[in-house]
Amino acid sequence: HSIPNASIVIFGATGDLAHRKLFPALYQLYQKGHMKENFSVVGVSRKEYSHEEFQKDVYGAIEEHTPGAETEKIKKFASHFYYLKMDVTSEKSYHDLEELLNSLDRDYSTNGNRLYYLAMAPSFFGTIPTFLKSEGITNTEGWQRIVIEKPFGHDLPSATELNKEIQQSFNENDIYRIDHYLGKEMVQNIQVIRFGNAIFESIWNNKYIDSVQITSSETLGVEDRAPYYEKSGALLDMVQNHMLQMVMMVAMEPPGELKPEHIRDEKVKVLRSLRFFNEEEVQKNVVRAQYGEGKMKGETVPAYLNEDKVDPESKTETFVAAKLFIDNFRWTGVPFYIRTGKRMAVKSTEIVIQFKQGPMALYHANKEQYQPNLLRIHIQPDEGVSLTLNAKPKGDTSDLLPIDMSYNNQATADMNSPEAYEKLIHDCLLGKSTYFTRWDEVALSWEFIDRITSAWHNNPDASLTHYESGSMGPVEADEMLQRDGHSWWEPTNL
Ligand code: BG6
Repeated sequence: HSIPNASIVIFGATGDLAHRKLFPALYQLYQKGHMKENFSVVGVSRKEYSHEEFQKDVYGAIEEHTPGAETEKIKKFASHFYYLKMDVTSEKSYHDLEELLNSLDRDYSTNGNRLYYLAMAPSFFGTIPTFLKSEGITNTEGWQRIVIEKPFGHDLPSATELNKEIQQSFNENDIYRIDHYLGKEMVQNIQVIRFGNAIFESIWNNKYIDSVQITSSETLGVEDRAPYYEKSGALLDMVQNHMLQMVMMVAMEPPGELKPEHIRDEKVKVLRSLRFFNEEEVQKNVVRAQYGEGKMKGETVPAYLNEDKVDPESKTETFVAAKLFIDNFRWTGVPFYIRTGKRMAVKSTEIVIQFKQGPMALYHANKEQYQPNLLRIHIQPDEGVSLTLNAKPKGDTSDLLPIDMSYNNQATADMNSPEAYEKLIHDCLLGKSTYFTRWDEVALSWEFIDRITSAWHNNPDASLTHYESGSMGPVEADEMLQRDGHSWWEPTNL
């Protein structure tokens, strides 16, 4: 598929996301030939910059984040970039933008196709689309699409408000709410593994599956993001979006067709069946914790409370574990355990499907040796799948030997590569919205999350526990599974 001629406007072009992910992702599309010469990128921010300075900046970002990129190729790529200093809250700025875009439309024969990428503070997410429309910028012959970074609101009322504002200027079909986990190779592969293999799909239910675990652990701490993170915490930062998206991908029914709406309809149905907790259920099924001091790679790292710009009395959680229930025909009785946190022992995202034991213990009289069948979907850092089976060791013995069948897709990308963004921007330029979140998904996920937030709010002390940096989380998360006779499967490599 080749990308149509277009102009891309990046709001927040001097920010971190633009440098680390967006410029390198666009560069990849360019050097792979998906984007030809007929495109322009307008960088917008409050800083004083010339086109040349901005192009240098883009050049520097590519050099830093794309090892092996050729100098001449980067230069040619960067020559498509233009800069505009804007105060996005002032009408006048938009006249300058319009003028620039109109001239780029002519120079690059873009037909008026425009993609607006909002990579700046969420407080402007509503303002910018409103001005784009009222100042007539979206009024061209071509398509108009808008990409919105997270966070999309901070609870259901604020997300609804924001959505209303954006929908006054853009159609739902042209709104691309990004969740970069949906751009990850193996998150997209969940569908194929499930629906492309009859052997899995026929046992993908509560008759054969005992439980599901999803772990997304990080080694980094809050870094320099405390002003944002203090208000969000792990629940809003990771669970409302990335973790729930993975739950949906594992739990959804097969779509009738691979069209975006068919897939998104099935995902939304999962959230409709997700049990929304009352306060008591939150206490029982959600663990909330903050990292204390600890050792990472032999070095002592500070507690969250001692991090830069963190309130020393902060009750913000950096870890969440939860037991979720999906009350429908397929999943009733199968717990979905999820956990995510910062400053944990490893950086890893892995989904583990644990199958039930067979009806009779023919070969595992010795319970210690028995290992349930596990299907592990390795999202990162390794990418692939593995299946744990039981076999017999060589020789005359009645012992059991756990063996692994595995597929490693040899992740080309390291975890910091812009790969997920590259896929998602590519999709957006082609008008494919499958891996973006639809409004009803976002609304339901907030509804679920708001129940938890309010339970915590009513009981802030009792609900926060602690864990040591460099561990896999607090004991309370282990105990929650032990009560069910389970324990967390530690992330593995392929
Ligand atoms: C972001 C969160 O959405 O996802 C970060 O804001 C988190 O706090 C990041 O570190 C994790 O993404 P990845 O791709 O590194 O697993």
